[in-house]
Amino acid sequence: MMSEKRILGMGIETSCDETSVAIIENGNTILANEIYSQIQEHAPFHGVVPEIASRSHLLKINPVYEEALATADIAPDDLDYCAVTSRPGLTGSLMIGGQLARCLNLVHGIDLVTVDHIEAHMYAVFLEGKKPEYPFLGLLLSGGNSAIFRIHGPGDMEMLGTTMDDALGEAFDKAASVLGLPYPGGPHVEKKALEYSASHPDAMEHPSMFPRLLKDLPSNKIAFSYSGIKTAVLQSAAQEKLGRICFDFQRTSFELVKRMLIRAVRITGLNTVVASGGVLASGSLRTVLDEVAREQDLKLYYPVDRKLCTDNAAMVGALGFRLWQSGVRSELDFPVSSRRQ
Ligand code: KG4
Repeated sequence: MMSEKRILGMGIETSCDETSVAIIENGNTILANEIYSQIQEHAPFHGVVPEIASRSHLLKINPVYEEALATADIAPDDLDYCAVTSRPGLTGSLMIGGQLARCLNLVHGIDLVTVDHIEAHMYAVFLEGKKPEYPFLGLLLSGGNSAIFRIHGPGDMEMLGTTMDDALGEAFDKAASVLGLPYPGGPHVEKKALEYSASHPDAMEHPSMFPRLLKDLPSNKIAFSYSGIKTAVLQSAAQEKLGRICFDFQRTSFELVKRMLIRAVRITGLNTVVASGGVLASGSLRTVLDEVAREQDLKLYYPVDRKLCTDNAAMVGALGFRLWQSGVRSELDFPVSSRRQ
């Protein structure tokens, strides 16, 4: 019996502060997913500095590329397509990944497929053998985005609501900075919140010190807003205990996620949800979403492997495979953009 040809693709991700190159087989198997994280380079500034990011991508892109080929044990000529994040992101950073993709096309004739970074996050779950059925709701909670989408199919997504100001991960990072916790703040705030609830078993029975977020938003609207609670953290830092602030910050922030997700389900009638983005690394958020899924009878998917929640090239290769299969090819002079379109 003839075995089917395996399709090999490369994913390239340089939209923010991770330099990543992946090799994907048949759109669902990771042969390599090499990631260099710049976290330590940005930590002194409590946030990503665009100029530092692009310089670092420039230095790391070649070694990360070589490493991915070596891990997967393939040569560039074995590749059928190269998927690269071209939007949205830091333009200087996107250009570095873009140049690598162009070189592969020029030197080896590999098909190019440009990919939307936000959409790519929704394809990480396909790399763990899950097959959510279209159309589904996409919930993205990361350092740069907090939004809910209706995903009709690869390359076809519609935004239902996004943040009016800060993203959820950004709010965690800023709150942590105000509270004197290290960058990136999410895991540190979560740790303090967990310690607090372990020593205060009745913590959930007390009202949160922070008011409910977006309480006056009309019931047909989907939105997020996290800049107000960040300011409230600053004001409470002098009076309240660190653990309680972290606990209440987290539960009030997650309550908005829960409310907006339930709202999106009601408005669209969809009951399949794919969630991803760096904040999904939080076990506390996973617990909240699991509860919503149980209560609302939802089919909920998120990457089990936390490495697939944060920025990585494997998800880019996974979405690229689906676009490439449907005939999408990008021109050599494709643009990069800080915006989605
Ligand atoms: O998707 P991602 O890797 O990149 C950007 O969008 O930049 O997300 C990183 C974000 C950071 O803001 C970080 O604080 C947040 O994810 N994060 C968390 C946790 N782990 C990472 N937020 C809350 N709780 C966590 N355990």
